[in-house]
Amino acid sequence: MEISITTRKAETIKAGCIAVAVYENGKLSRSAKRLDQASSGRLSRLIEQSSLTGKVGQQLLLHGVEGVDSDRILVVGAGKSRRLSASEFQKVAQSAVSGLRSSGAADAAVYLEELEVSERDAAWQARVAAESLHQALYRFDQLKSDKSAETPERLSKLIYAVRSKSGQATIRRAIRQANAIAAGSALARTLGDLPGNVCTPGYLADQARQIGRTYKTVIVRSRNEAEMKRMGMGALLSVARGSEEPAKLITLEYRGGRKTDKPVALVGKGVTFDSGGISIKPSAAMDEMKYDMCGAASVLGAIRAIAELKLKLNVVGVIPATENLPGGKASKPGDIYTSMSGQTVEVLNTDAEGRLILCDALTFAARYEPEIVVDIATLTGACVIALGSHASGLFANNEQLARELLRAGEYSCDRAWQLPLWEDYEKQLESNFADMANIGGREAGAITAASFLSKFTRNYRWAHLDIAGTAWRTGKEKGATGRPVPLLVQFLIDRAGSSARRRH
Ligand code: BES
Ligand code: MN
Ligand code: ZN
Repeated sequence: MEISITTRKAETIKAGCIAVAVYENGKLSRSAKRLDQASSGRLSRLIEQSSLTGKVGQQLLLHGVEGVDSDRILVVGAGKSRRLSASEFQKVAQSAVSGLRSSGAADAAVYLEELEVSERDAAWQARVAAESLHQALYRFDQLKSDKSAETPERLSKLIYAVRSKSGQATIRRAIRQANAIAAGSALARTLGDLPGNVCTPGYLADQARQIGRTYKTVIVRSRNEAEMKRMGMGALLSVARGSEEPAKLITLEYRGGRKTDKPVALVGKGVTFDSGGISIKPSAAMDEMKYDMCGAASVLGAIRAIAELKLKLNVVGVIPATENLPGGKASKPGDIYTSMSGQTVEVLNTDAEGRLILCDALTFAARYEPEIVVDIATLTGACVIALGSHASGLFANNEQLARELLRAGEYSCDRAWQLPLWEDYEKQLESNFADMANIGGREAGAITAASFLSKFTRNYRWAHLDIAGTAWRTGKEKGATGRPVPLLVQFLIDRAGSSARRRH
């Protein structure tokens, strides 16, 4: 999908479809007004005759409006107020692109910059519009034999209209960012949607290597179980025991900063299928546990995006990848393993496997002397109960870092919400037989999982994102979302910007 910019006015454009906005009071946006004039009032008459009231999310497709060169006009509702909230604008943009997609037009022009959005600038608006478009065009049909079952995709060119020439460089950069973020999200979505028999730990390693081949700035390495054993990764390996599929420890080093710049480490949970192991899960919706590698997928997506954007900082991705299955050699409730940190863990529930693979990956990450470590994991059902599917759970041992991540989530429409990491919760992890247990009881399940991880992250600034509720949608719309790639990339864009400023 190609996205370009124009400063041409709506009535001078000749496109397959042109999208303009109308407010709830019937008031036309600036470009809608121009089209109305060009069509001698036909546009406003057609809107009046329709059931469109201007509510956010509504749309009206008009064909062959006399006096207008474009084949179609898509009118989208922009709500009550002259000034939209950020999330209202996002809804308007999403409704516009979905309308354009189904309009049948091959090329389209979008006039949404003229909508005023509180606390957001024109660059943000362009990014949201461009990202919405890419998101709407995502398809997972590689495993369907009849790919034409869905309507064939026609829309292949989008023109984003901007008011003046002066800000064009900024808008162009915003669209470049949107393209990179969208490509990273699409990669994360595809990996998430792929079934567990295809997307294995080895497959994730291949995907990482593919990124390394595409971007010379990314050095990829995959370690096998023997190497993990030599490093003492007893917790990670305890999870892999029940599966025939070999576990992998995948690393991607992105070098965009100076040699001496300490990297940001991103650690992603890569359980390519989580059956629960011996503490086996109920079978209802167990298929969705193919999504238990979405943390890993978000690391791959984010690194692909920042390599594409050539961000000036160093980032290392660490992905512990394994299946969690109940084989004959599988770990059992009560088994005790020694983690790479030397701390011992009593596995009271083999379904709390994410923290077991992450704790060794987090210990391993210290080798890179990271500036900051962020782990991303579909870690707990309890987080879904706490926050639903709107926000990822955020935990951090450093408030400044937590604020940076929350802000990046706000800006990128990929929000997180902070939960406490107080020592009070650590009591729940006490074990009679080892340094700690891997579960903390029914209460505050998302927090005790984070507390467990915090015992392995004492030596650096660290944050943990629990994406169990945000990484995929269930039900009729089942599918990966690509979250939190936008949040992570925005966080890294901001960091690259501020470290460049520090240098000057
Ligand atoms: N991958 C799951 C978490 C999960 C469950 C994510 C449902 C999304 C939807 C994780 O490995 C897990 O099984 N966690 C257990 C922990 C419990 C045994 C302490 C959970 O949340 O039930
Ligand atoms: Mn589990
Ligand atoms: Zn899991």
